[in-house]
Formats: sequence, C-alpha cells, structure tokens
Amino acid sequence: MVCVIIAAAGQGKRMGSGINKVLLPLAGKAVLVHTVLAAAAVEAVGRVIITAAGEDIEAIRTLLASNNLSVPWQVVAGGIERQHSIANALALIPDTTDIVVVHDGARPLAGAHLFDQVVAAARQYNAAIAAVPVKDTIKSVDAAGWVMNTPDRRKLWAVQTPQAFAAGLLKKAYARAAEESYIGTDDAGLVERLGTGVQIVQGDYQNIKITTPEDLVFAEAILAKRQEAVTM
Ligand code: CTP
Ligand code: MG
Repeated sequence: MVCVIIAAAGQGKRMGSGINKVLLPLAGKAVLVHTVLAAAAVEAVGRVIITAAGEDIEAIRTLLASNNLSVPWQVVAGGIERQHSIANALALIPDTTDIVVVHDGARPLAGAHLFDQVVAAARQYNAAIAAVPVKDTIKSVDAAGWVMNTPDRRKLWAVQTPQAFAAGLLKKAYARAAEESYIGTDDAGLVERLGTGVQIVQGDYQNIKITTPEDLVFAEAILAKRQEAVTM
C-alpha cells in the first residue's frame, strides 16, 4: 500500500499573513485542500496522513472532513522542524505500507502523474524524488557577500516533493538521523546519508511551493490556465 504523508505543520512565516499559509484561500479552496485532494485522487494511494501544528489540528480536521476524501486520512501533531513532523507521521503508517510518499502541504499543484512517477521509480530504485533543472545560475556566496564559486548549472537540480521511498528505508533513515541529531532540509537527504542511491524523476515547473505572497498569484494563474484548458 502507498501511504502519503503531507507536511502542513509549519507556520508560514515567510508568507507573513499571520496564519499558516496552507490555510489561505487559492481559487476558492484552502491551499491544503488542493494538496490533499490531489494526493487522494492518485489511484495507488491507500492512506493520507497530514501533519498539523497544535493550534491548527482542529481547523484542518474540520476542513478535510467537509471535503469527502476518497481514501482514509488522519491528522497528526507536527513538531518544531519539518523533519520532526514527518517523523511523527512515519510512526503511524500502517504495517501494510510498502511505499511512503512525502509531500509538502504547500505544493497544491502537483499532479497525479507526478505522484505515479515517483511511486513507480521508488518501487524500482527504493528512493525517488521530483526535481527540475535549475533555470538560474547558482553561486556559492560567503557571509561577507563575496562569490566563492559557480557550480556547473548542468549538474544542478531544484528538488521538489513528492519524494517516495521504500517504507523500511525511510524509517531507517529517520532513525539514523535521530540517533545522530542530524536535521536535513529534505527527506532524500536523510536517505543519502545511509549511502543509498536516490533517483531523480523529472518534476514539473508548475509544482511550485507556496512560500511568499507572489506564489499565490502564480498558483492562481496556473490553476486558471488549467481550468481554461479543461473548458475549451
Ligand atoms: N512543515 C511541517 N512542520 C514543520 C515545518 C514545516 O509540517 N515544523 C511543513 C509546512 O507546513 C510546509 C512544508 O513543511 O507545507 C514545507 O515547509 P515550508 O515551505 O518551509 O513551510 P513553513 O515552515 O510553514 O514556512 P516558513 O518556513 O516560511 O515559516
Ligand atoms: Mg519552513
């Protein structure tokens, strides 16, 4: 069974709206509702676990209950860092789970096809993540503002979620990170530390993470364009 963990226990500080950004409206629905509906619509998905900050748990439960999700779901308390939130959810995955998909609640535009692709690649390689080639040149810069070097852009990928893993592998990676008090910036990073290969799946430039206010404008535009394509 495929179990999707959706991280929604952040505070959305960079959004600066005073509430968790995943609860903000986007084309008539909360950002998180778009995300959870997209994950639940994926045929292989058998369960969805959503992490929520203590103060948002009830609001998120109520919001999801009114959307008649097609798969079993539950809301679990998150932690201080995203990694702690995922660890709490990982402790609750059913024993029948063979693949765990981790996805940001703040990425409402990931399509079923992308979920299918990371799941298929994880079945083959044990660890697979959505990523896109970077469009900008990236520079490494020191604290005083001096450029240190310019990595070869052809080798640089911007990593997204969904990220999918064999369940046992991800649990092992989380256990190791906890033992060593290591905090990473994505789930694959914890798996990489075990020396296990992580395969890239071609992501989608439309699969943006809602982080700052202009991202809501971009997301509205992408959804309007998709709607237009459906009604034409
Ligand atoms: N997240 C989480 N638990 C945390 C921190 C973040 O579940 N302790 C979730 C967020 O809700 C978000 C996703 O992880 O959907 C990606 O994190 P990010 O974009 O950084 O969201 P926030 O931490 O909420 O935003 P900010 O960093 O601007 O405060
Ligand atoms: Mg954050």
